[in-house]
Amino acid sequence: MRTLTGIQPSGTLHLGNYLGAMRPAIEAQARGNCFYFIADYHSMTSLFDPVERRKNTLNVALDWLACGLDPATSVFWRQSDVPEVTELMWLIGSLTPMGLLERAHSFKDKTAKGISPNFGLFAYPVLMAADILLYDTHVVPVGRDQQQHLEMTRDIAIKFNQTYGETFVVPEADIRDELAVVPGLDGQKMSKSYGNTIDLFGDEKATRKKIMGIVMDSRTPAEPKPDADQNLAIQLMKLVAAPELAADYESRLRAGGLGYGDLKKALFEQYWAFLAPYRARRAELAANLDYVEKVLRDGAEKARATASVVLKRARQACGIAAA
Ligand code: TRP
Repeated sequence: MRTLTGIQPSGTLHLGNYLGAMRPAIEAQARGNCFYFIADYHSMTSLFDPVERRKNTLNVALDWLACGLDPATSVFWRQSDVPEVTELMWLIGSLTPMGLLERAHSFKDKTAKGISPNFGLFAYPVLMAADILLYDTHVVPVGRDQQQHLEMTRDIAIKFNQTYGETFVVPEADIRDELAVVPGLDGQKMSKSYGNTIDLFGDEKATRKKIMGIVMDSRTPAEPKPDADQNLAIQLMKLVAAPELAADYESRLRAGGLGYGDLKKALFEQYWAFLAPYRARRAELAANLDYVEKVLRDGAEKARATASVVLKRARQACGIAAA
């Protein structure tokens, strides 16, 4: 059973990204047959700076490898290193109804926000379907925001199979509703669009400043806090510290005597220690970019071994190559 997912190279990652998407994907490697790629073609629909794209793509590769993506176990590549996907996009796009694409929420949301729509943005779901179908994918773990794209992928696969004969595996979505919502610095869900994130690999000073800046109420340190479990620093500590330690801080806060400043300092230390091994690994990788490039190229070669077989099958099915 093959699991595949695409990762948008869209800038700095935060704790919510790590706990919500990366860690589950990294843990899933134990089951084998994981295909993960960096969706740099997709980034072209909304980012028009080549230097920035290259930088973002490299950063995502560093982040994922640092956090435990294992290129010996999983196939990890840069989407554009297997350009066959764009050909498949044409084959399937030619039987994708306009109406299907016009109903796409993400397209409608983006244009409603004033992003001027280009062909790529409109065709985004077709490229995404090609990503999935090109690798005979069975399962696609994605967030709820991608559910409709997966339904479109299934519709496209079924239509192609009906029109040209059995060609594609019809994939299943594995929708991840986050098990625990990771709260951001203001207590709302941690999200880049709310500007309340804590970066995974931010520098020490900036990270400390962000955590020390969490706003709390005006109760004195001595006052008992019966609502200690609602405290944002306690909630975050539970996500990054050993459970006994977080429980100890919670009971000290509840009893009274623990000041908010000391609590936030402890949170910073736990946060910093939680990421220490990944930070060290990331620094090693960043000092060895030839290795990272080689990992991506080797990954692309493995991905292509599957892609070329499936593309050939699709070409033959629709009559643009000798059967
Ligand atoms: N659209 C996905 C997102 O925004 C990224 C993506 C591109 C993807 N191609 C994919 C995800 C294929 C799963 C499968 O997160």
